[in-house]
Amino acid sequence: MQASRQIVNQVSEAIISADQSNTIVMANPAAATLFGTSVEHMVGRPLGQYIEAPVDAGDDGQPVDYFRPGPGRAGRRATDYTVTGVRVDGERFPIEGSVSGADTGTPFYTVVLRDVSERRRVQEKLTRSHDQLRQLSAALQTIREEERTHIARELHDDLGQLLASLRMDLTLLQQADGTPRDSLRLMRGMEDNLLTAIASLRRIATNLRPRALDEGGLYFALQGLRDDFVERYAIPTTLLADEAELRLDDAASTAIFRIVQEALTNIARHAEATRVMMNLFRLNSDLLITIRDDGRGIRPKDMEKAESLGLIGMRERVWAMKGEITIAADEPHGTRIDIMLPLHGHLV
Ligand SMILES: Nc1ncnc2c1ncn2[C@@H]1O[C@H](COP(=O)(O)OP(=O)(O)OP(=O)(O)O)[C@@H](O)[C@H]1O
Ligand SMILES: [Mg+2]
Repeated sequence: MQASRQIVNQVSEAIISADQSNTIVMANPAAATLFGTSVEHMVGRPLGQYIEAPVDAGDDGQPVDYFRPGPGRAGRRATDYTVTGVRVDGERFPIEGSVSGADTGTPFYTVVLRDVSERRRVQEKLTRSHDQLRQLSAALQTIREEERTHIARELHDDLGQLLASLRMDLTLLQQADGTPRDSLRLMRGMEDNLLTAIASLRRIATNLRPRALDEGGLYFALQGLRDDFVERYAIPTTLLADEAELRLDDAASTAIFRIVQEALTNIARHAEATRVMMNLFRLNSDLLITIRDDGRGIRPKDMEKAESLGLIGMRERVWAMKGEITIAADEPHGTRIDIMLPLHGHLV
């Protein structure tokens, strides 16, 4: 008995014994620590002071059954229950307890208790991040569907109509009852339409997958992006980068291209900037990317918009490559994005 008492006193698990009227007859130091009190204080007190009774407890006039089968079961073993502990300062916390001796006819029973707050916190965090993942994947589905709709509309509106009108002109031409001058005029119109169709096709294809990425590499693709941006929005934009430093594999090139593309799209849509600077340079095996504009500056609350996915996508791409990204307002005004991307494994 002495030896087992010593073990009980030394184990790190909280152990409490109570008699049939739920009065504590033994508590070890670990139990006292768990409830924020001392062993002397616990012994002789009702168990109900440390463990919350089930809501309907005592209705039948019987002693409260703190550990009983029902919704409180922890479910791993038949003798495991989850209950709510009450510390001396009143703080409530989840406990998992294993009961022994409760139904073997002995005059008292023993419970081994574990504080499961931490586990519950981790579980809740996990549930939250699962929810976020689900939302993200739903958002991705929507984006994919929207993109398809957009491409389909462009193909239909642009190319479809041009091809239809080409066919009509061709039919007219085949009827050949006009003068050679009429025919010539028709053919000129057809040539114009064909050129427009080719330009449309190029534009649609480039949006889907920039050819420059496959043909010239990242550096030239970024230059193309910059040139298009300047042409479209007339905002002077510098690109400081070294072609040799940007010879990267497809995964890294595509990620960086899309990040810069999103940053420029955001500047065009939100920044009201008059200048943009993009720097990309290698430092050892990292690529450092800075994109700055001198516009109105991003506000912290802008970055929390639930419906905005551009910045989230940017962050995800950086994190997928084990890099780091900060997005913040710049001094004296404007927005600044700093990215560090480890390149090992991506160099070609
Ligand atoms: N360069 C910038 N200057 C000022 N505000 C910016 C800049 N970039 C982003 N923002 C702000 O941050 C918000 C979030 O940007 P984000 O790219 O995530 O979403 P969005 O551009 O609104 O929509 P989308 O999902 O189509 O990208 C924007 O709505 C805008 O208010
Ligand atoms: Mg955006």
